[in-house]
Amino acid sequence: MSAFPLALSDDASLDTGLADRIDRHWPHVLAALRPLYGQGAWERLLAARLVDAARQRPADLRALDQQRVDAPDWFQRPEMVGYCTYIDRFAGTLAGTRSRLDELTRLGVTYFHPLPLLRPCEGDSDGGFAVADFRQVDPKLGTMDDLRALAADLRGRGISLCLDIVCNHTADSHPWALAAKAGDPAFRDFYHVVENAADVAALEAHLGQVFPQTAPGNFTFVPEMGGHVWTTFYPFQWDLNYANPAVFIEMVDVLFYLANQGAEVFRLDSAPFLWKRAGTDCRGLPETHQVVRAWRALLAIVAPAVALKAEAIVGLDEVLPFLGDAERPECHLAYNNSAMTALWAALATGDARPLAHCLEDALARPADAGWLTYVRCHDDIIWAALGGVIPKERLAWISDFYAGKVPGSFADGRVFQAEPGAVPSTNGMAASLAGWRDGADNAAALARLRLLYGVTFALDGIPALYMGDERALTNDADYAADPEHALDGRWLHRPVMDWNRPEGAIHADIARFAQLRRDRACMHAANPARPLKTDDPALLAFDRRAADGDRLVCLGHFNGDARIADLSDLLGEGHWHDLLDGKAVTAQAVPLGPWGLRWLVKTNG
Ligand code: GLC
Repeated sequence: MSAFPLALSDDASLDTGLADRIDRHWPHVLAALRPLYGQGAWERLLAARLVDAARQRPADLRALDQQRVDAPDWFQRPEMVGYCTYIDRFAGTLAGTRSRLDELTRLGVTYFHPLPLLRPCEGDSDGGFAVADFRQVDPKLGTMDDLRALAADLRGRGISLCLDIVCNHTADSHPWALAAKAGDPAFRDFYHVVENAADVAALEAHLGQVFPQTAPGNFTFVPEMGGHVWTTFYPFQWDLNYANPAVFIEMVDVLFYLANQGAEVFRLDSAPFLWKRAGTDCRGLPETHQVVRAWRALLAIVAPAVALKAEAIVGLDEVLPFLGDAERPECHLAYNNSAMTALWAALATGDARPLAHCLEDALARPADAGWLTYVRCHDDIIWAALGGVIPKERLAWISDFYAGKVPGSFADGRVFQAEPGAVPSTNGMAASLAGWRDGADNAAALARLRLLYGVTFALDGIPALYMGDERALTNDADYAADPEHALDGRWLHRPVMDWNRPEGAIHADIARFAQLRRDRACMHAANPARPLKTDDPALLAFDRRAADGDRLVCLGHFNGDARIADLSDLLGEGHWHDLLDGKAVTAQAVPLGPWGLRWLVKTNG
């Protein structure tokens, strides 16, 4: 029943472990996909692509596969530290990026995520998230040879390359979309086309909106298609029809292809939206999880060195399923957007309890998966994702706070579009949101930024820096002068890297967080961050414990005043010292500075 449909013969170009991996994982592929596609010709077609990709996998990547089969926890290791940037804004081109790698190494980076770099559509491409060719690099950034060379350089330094897989949609200028517009029925079936307006209205009644102001609704009338094309995001981003097995096969072939160029992690962009079913909100449907599960199993066969990361910026209960479980694994990693958002909420309100609550809930993840923990990224901060944790009126206040609309607010952010009645999201660079103003006294902003990054680096998973935060780079208000960006406020926090900006204290702090993490067994992601009870709502406390007894307690003081706290209940017996300032700490009298941060470990003696 579940036999692989092709004979592998004695093909010397195939990896010796391939047959075993097929035996182990192909049944999972079928278990996930047969309920979607039935039994059929697609199985042979998929198998043929798989064998082809396995044959083309370069020797050095096969060696990496073997290492990771032997040590599957590689992405959970304490030394993992991420960095995310736009190639053009970081170093102009891929070749330019190769000459900036010392900068990453100095920060302790082991995971590099350049935002979309494949050939996008012309003009506005949603920051590259409208891909016109999945097998070509954006010519402005370089070539596929450059990408392979970058991947190899990174690998040589022990840095894993993470690439975006924009799997929910293509650009409307992608050859599949062009063929569909030209009337080819096979390619029309790559997309969702709804012919009459009444059917659109019936679907819309159940759907949310991602960009209600700049791209209202979820459909775009396209005359050449004689109907309305499903476009969850911008009208030029056409949602793919995963009910068609040909779409599944083409997209997994893209994964294989990019894995063979040297990508080690794939960020599954907009993962919750993949499957559509009328009468639902089409977010995180069970069929979407089946698709992701099948991708996981197929990569485990062809490129076991590769990890999947879910981009699902929704409530934690909808994110957790993307990590699957022991029997049915999905992604290795997912963004812990709840912790990130609650971190900013704590900074505004001085109340760290919702953050502790999010950490408690995040304990439900599988022990062999990990979080991508972060302070900022290229998108807005979506307060609605905390809807289950913080009341809406409070979230609205926080949104106002970061837009500088609350008296006494330190923040310099802007609101971003949200659905009618929903709390507006927030745009802005971390430094600006933390109150940094160039030329002013930034001691408090620096402490806040350090607090956010220090907590993030103490959490379980890969802590990822967002480009420029290591130099407290502020907002780029000039984005509004660029007609391609003016309408999308997220460009406020996508500045060009300023290499002349002094590194300053935050750079040193972040490099130190990375260095302190890498030597500690407790910082392995198998050891989750467990919140500890405190009497003070402004005090976040959690610990990380390894089986060998190594333990770190992280304290975050979400308050601008200094105080001395008696934490004997929390810390118990023994002598402690703070790894960050190297000083001894007595549990009965722990000094907590304004926006203070401590990484405490026990000393003998
Ligand atoms: C993801 C990206 C975002 C983009 C959207 C559509 O959410 O992070 O920047 O606009 O997908 O591709």
